[in-house]
Amino acid sequence: MTYSNILVEQHDAVTLITLNRPQALNALNSGVLEELIEAFAAFQADPSQRCAVLTGAGDKAFAAGADIKEMADKPAADFYAGDFFSRWTSHVVQTTRKPWIAAVNGFALGGGCELAMMADFIIAADTARFGQPEIKLGVAPGMGGSQRLTRAIGKAKAMDMCLTGRMMGAEEAERSGLVARVVPLAELRDTALKVAAEIAAMPPLAAIANKEMVNVAFETTLEQGLLFERRLFQVLTATEDRVEGMAAFVEKRPGVWKGR
Ligand code: HXC
Repeated sequence: MTYSNILVEQHDAVTLITLNRPQALNALNSGVLEELIEAFAAFQADPSQRCAVLTGAGDKAFAAGADIKEMADKPAADFYAGDFFSRWTSHVVQTTRKPWIAAVNGFALGGGCELAMMADFIIAADTARFGQPEIKLGVAPGMGGSQRLTRAIGKAKAMDMCLTGRMMGAEEAERSGLVARVVPLAELRDTALKVAAEIAAMPPLAAIANKEMVNVAFETTLEQGLLFERRLFQVLTATEDRVEGMAAFVEKRPGVWKGR
């Protein structure tokens, strides 16, 4: 597939996807959306690919939001009838079982912040700026901002961000639990690729199971979550990679994974 709004590269077992509309601060128009869905589906389907990184082209923005120019003249009925943005979450998030990281290299605003929060975790450049400024446009988050941001940083800060539309810098974002790591901008891409390569080198079934377990923590009670965790742990003990992993530890050598 040839892409015109994103770039897709494979670095061994890591897929690097770059939002590539720097002239519009990588604003998320329908072309970006459709290509991202394709790219994530291809990543999920390719057995040689184990982890992905999503970042933005240029030094200024990860994504400055949904494309305001594309939305400006759209009639309300079209947003509703087309269930605006539902495909994004259902395809990129729900069908991607393999781990992926957002490497936020600048502005992550509105839909850009929401897209970053769909990742399994965020690594931010020290220049990154996060925000949900939709209120200033007379709307509100529509791709998970009110829900994922609140789960990530709590009610007080989420309300502050959504009601004032202010931006949060990388240091505050890390302190608040939105971001896993902050690195200098010049090191962001290499760090994200290195972390992704580390994850890609893990036993693949265990990687998927670890991701599923953590995600279930946001969806269920503690009791049910603990049961889900225990059962998945027990399922993993039936894999060849578990036998190999424990033997490799005892024999003081690196494990060799089969993904079975
Ligand atoms: C379309 C955008 C854009 C956007 C920036 N651009 N953000 N185009 N949609 N979201 C374009 C500008 O129009 C401009 O194009 C070029 O990118 C550079 O932006 P500038 O504004 O000139 O840059 P700067 O002055 O440095 O300001 C940067 C900025 C500002 C603070 C990030 O661009 C900004 O506030 N952008 C909008 C942020 C926002 O409101 N995002 C939320 C969108 S709503 P030209 O052609 O003029 O050079 C949303 C809803 C999601 O995401 C939920 C939907 C269901």
